[in-house]
Formats: sequence, C-alpha cells, structure tokens
Amino acid sequence: MNIQQNIQLQPYNSFRTKAIAKLFAQPETVDELQELLQTYANEPKFILGGGFNIFFTQDFNGLVINPAMRGIRTISENTDFVEIEAGAAEDWDNFVAYCVSHRYSGVENLSLIPGTVGAAPIQNIGAYGAEVKDVIVKVIAVEIESGKMVEFSNAECEFEYRNSIFKRTRKHIITHVVFRLSKSFEYKEKYVDLNHELKNITTPNLSQVREAIIRIRTRKLPDYNSLPNAGSFFKNPILTKEEKEKLLTLLPDAPVYNAKEDGYKTSAAYLIEKAGFKGKRKGDVGTYEHHALIIVNYGTESGQEIVNFMHDIQNSVFQQYGVSLEPEVWIF
Ligand code: EPU
Repeated sequence: MNIQQNIQLQPYNSFRTKAIAKLFAQPETVDELQELLQTYANEPKFILGGGFNIFFTQDFNGLVINPAMRGIRTISENTDFVEIEAGAAEDWDNFVAYCVSHRYSGVENLSLIPGTVGAAPIQNIGAYGAEVKDVIVKVIAVEIESGKMVEFSNAECEFEYRNSIFKRTRKHIITHVVFRLSKSFEYKEKYVDLNHELKNITTPNLSQVREAIIRIRTRKLPDYNSLPNAGSFFKNPILTKEEKEKLLTLLPDAPVYNAKEDGYKTSAAYLIEKAGFKGKRKGDVGTYEHHALIIVNYGTESGQEIVNFMHDIQNSVFQQYGVSLEPEVWIF
C-alpha cells in the first residue's frame, strides 16, 4: 500500500479548506487496514471519508486514513427482503441508485446525499422523513487501538438524530455496512415538500420518488463543485418546554415539531433566516441564498474564516432567540 507524505487535504473536503497531512493512506481491504494500524501504531490517526461533512482549521501531524473498501453484494434474500453489504468507500448516492434500479426500497429518500456508505451510519444521515438507521442491520468496523474487527448490531450503533456511537467515540473505522431493504414499495406521505413534488402522480413508484428528491435537493442545495459547502451546517435544535415557549413568544410562527428525545425540535434554517443571515456574506464566507442552513465558501482556503462566521450566526441567534445552535459539520 502506498503511504503518501505531506498531502494537501484541500481536494478531500467539500468546503475546500487547506491543511497538510503528514501521512496519508487508502487501505482497500481489512487486512491492509489492520497492517497499517500495526505499522503506524504510534502515530495519531484521523479517519477521513468522502470529506462532505468536515473542514480543516489546522494541519494534521499524523496519519490520515481514507478507507477505500469497495463492492456491493447481496448476502441473503427471501421473497420480501434483501440484505446487502456495501464497502465503506462506495459513493452513497451510487448505492441508492443501485438499490432503486433493483427495486429495493428503504434508501430512496436519502437520494443525492453526498458522501460514502461508510460515513452514513456515523451521523445517521437523514432526509425527507427517513434515517439510515431504519435500514441498517449491522456495521462492520476495525477498532483503531487494537486493530480488531468488531461488528455492531443496529442497537449497538446507538443511533440518534445525526449521531451514533461512531461519532461519539471516534474509536472505529467502518469498513462495511449491511442493509436490509424491502422488495415491495408503497409511497407513504411523510414530508410536505416531497408530497408537493409528487402531487401529480397518483401512486408514485420508487424511481419517481428518487427523481423527485433529486429535483428538490438540486433546487434547494448548492453544488459543492461550484460553491464549496458541507450541507446543513447546524443541527436542528431540540428545545426544552421553557425554551420552546420563550421562542414562541418571540416568533409565534416558528416551526416546532415534537421530537422523540423528550423535547421540541425547531428549524435552524428558520432561526438563521429570522436573525437576518439568509444569503448574507462576510468576506469569503456566507449562507446560501436559497437555504439559510448552508454555509458556503466563496473562496477562502482557511477554515478559521468559516469558524468566525459560524460564531457570528450562533451569537446572533442566541442573543435574539435564546437558542444555541450546535454544528452538524465536524470542525477539525
Ligand atoms: N427554512 C427557512 N429558511 C430557509 C430554509 C428553510 O425558514 O432558508 C425553514 C422552512 O420552514 C422549512 C424548514 O426550515 O420548511 C425546514 O427546511 P428543510 O425542509 O430544507 O429541512 P432542514 O431542517 O433545513 C433537514 C436536514 C437536511 C435534509 C432536509 C430534508 C438537518 C440538520 N438537516 O434540513 O439534511 O436534507 O432536512 O429532509 O437535519 C444535511 O444534514 O446536511 C442535510 C442537508
């Protein structure tokens, strides 16, 4: 395996910030990964997937591991369900396209989310009323410290809204994910935007749902190739009853949904827009004109400028509405 030295990480993060990695490796098999961990046992390690939910503010004086395990294969099936194992480096949306083309349902609402299969469980990707946790059977990983292979059942992944054991502990490298998909499909109305997009179709099929989501996302979200970004920058905040009531006295129209985790979820995009930040630009950083939750990079190569802008938004939203916004993106 080729171990590269002093690699520029700018092409490896969708925000296109600059940082140098002392060492960089792309193991293609579990054996290669285990060998790498053993050889570089004393180096600090950083695991980088597709780089769509991260940006750098500093160089990394250690080994960056970019898992490169590929392959999509059926491991079992019956008349109703199929279990599919996919390598961590498979492009997420290619995997969704594969499933939809085989008429396997369960991931179609997660169409066009940038990133890799291996990154999907880490932050439990979600969109249009679906979360990846609902179709994951198990996650196969290697423990960084010991080099041992470990399998996590769905429950052991401890999935939450945009969170999991992998994100909380950062102790594992995901090599493969096993999904359970359904061979039948019936469209269920869950999300207003999607229902609206499909309003002219009486019984939407899988491909039509995927196409509708691709249209919505393409309209609302900026393309990282022309306007570097990392998708939603903040999580949608979960409020206590008191915080919710305070917010509603200030902003009676604020969207509030009952969240599972014993609180009330509101919309970060709405709060950022109300705070006056939609489409606002400061230097080379700003929020996207069509979606306030997305911070876009107009040309800075320094992650610090993004962090400064993030603080401006957080301070303003907190001062005006008493709500703390927590980044969804990983800032290194
Ligand atoms: N809104 C505004 N201003 C805006 C944009 C949105 O006020 O500029 C309000 C609207 O009321 C809208 C509501 O915010 O109805 C929700 O907006 P949207 O449907 O776009 O969803 P979101 O909550 O902003 C979440 C996910 C997205 C996912 C969409 C669609 C998080 C942090 N983000 O965004 O995921 O695509 O739902 O389901 O949960 C990502 O995680 O990177 C991501 C893009």
